[in-house]
Amino acid sequence: MSDILLSAKNLSVRFGGVLAVNDVSFDVKRGEVFTLIGPNGAGKTTVFNLISRIYTPTTGTIDYAGPQGMLRLTEQPPHRIASLGIARTFQNIELFEHATVLQNLLIGRHTHRRTGLLSELFFTSKTRAAEIEAREKVEQVIDLLDLQHHRESMVAGLPYGVRKVVELARALCTEPQLLLLDEPSSGLNVEETDDMAFWITDIKNELGITVLMVEHDMGLVSKVSDRVLAMSQGQQLAMGTPAHVQADPGVIEAYLGTVDDVSSLRRENHKVNA
Ligand SMILES: Nc1ncnc2c1ncn2[C@@H]1O[C@H](COP(=O)(O)OP(=O)(O)OP(=O)(O)O)[C@@H](O)[C@H]1O
Ligand SMILES: [Mg+2]
Repeated sequence: MSDILLSAKNLSVRFGGVLAVNDVSFDVKRGEVFTLIGPNGAGKTTVFNLISRIYTPTTGTIDYAGPQGMLRLTEQPPHRIASLGIARTFQNIELFEHATVLQNLLIGRHTHRRTGLLSELFFTSKTRAAEIEAREKVEQVIDLLDLQHHRESMVAGLPYGVRKVVELARALCTEPQLLLLDEPSSGLNVEETDDMAFWITDIKNELGITVLMVEHDMGLVSKVSDRVLAMSQGQQLAMGTPAHVQADPGVIEAYLGTVDDVSSLRRENHKVNA
């Protein structure tokens, strides 16, 4: 089995006059955390949307090692993505607000069901077995992400940081082999961000799930990423370990003008090299 899970080649996307993604190529290896960084508008979310088939590239291809072998992801219909073992969270949380945490997770799990309509209607033993399996998986994820206290809570009443974890849990309930996380730390405080780093490392090490993430917080990026791809204005600038990419002059220059980001880049870099 190849160690490449996903291979993007020469991806470009044009929205009218804007070349949002411009000739970007990268491979994601099985079992790694691969992170896209870059200033606002760099094209990171657009790359995510290409993988989850919300967008079709203007040029380029994405190949993916699905359950039945290598396939051209860019030719798959969007509704097949979940069944190919790809799950995602959104830059803005998307949950059923007026349902409980448990209900949200069971709905997330539903994409995984293999029983047919007839057996669902007659609630056969096969359906019952699937129901029990779903419950078990959901409870396992609740334990892993420490959500026991919130399982019966309505999502709408939960603090933002907890909702973020619920969204992550919902994605995990589909048992993905590739998890796409768009800014997992956005809106979180320092302590919650530390927890998030811990969950992501657990997801990789304990569940063996490959993670492709977009993230601005360089502390989190350095902690959890095996490899980083830096983008700016649609183009790729540098790829390698977090320390290598953060020391790249082109990357530092791309962040100029956002003084806080540059100083945090330098700070993190200093820590990594110390
Ligand atoms: N649906 C769309 N229609 C038109 N332009 C778009 C669309 N989606 C993104 N863009 C443009 O493409 C560029 C890249 O946007 P994208 O959302 O991928 O950036 P990003 O790196 O995720 O930024 P951020 O860090 O702010 O989330 C931007 O110039 C954006 O305005
Ligand atoms: Mg984005």
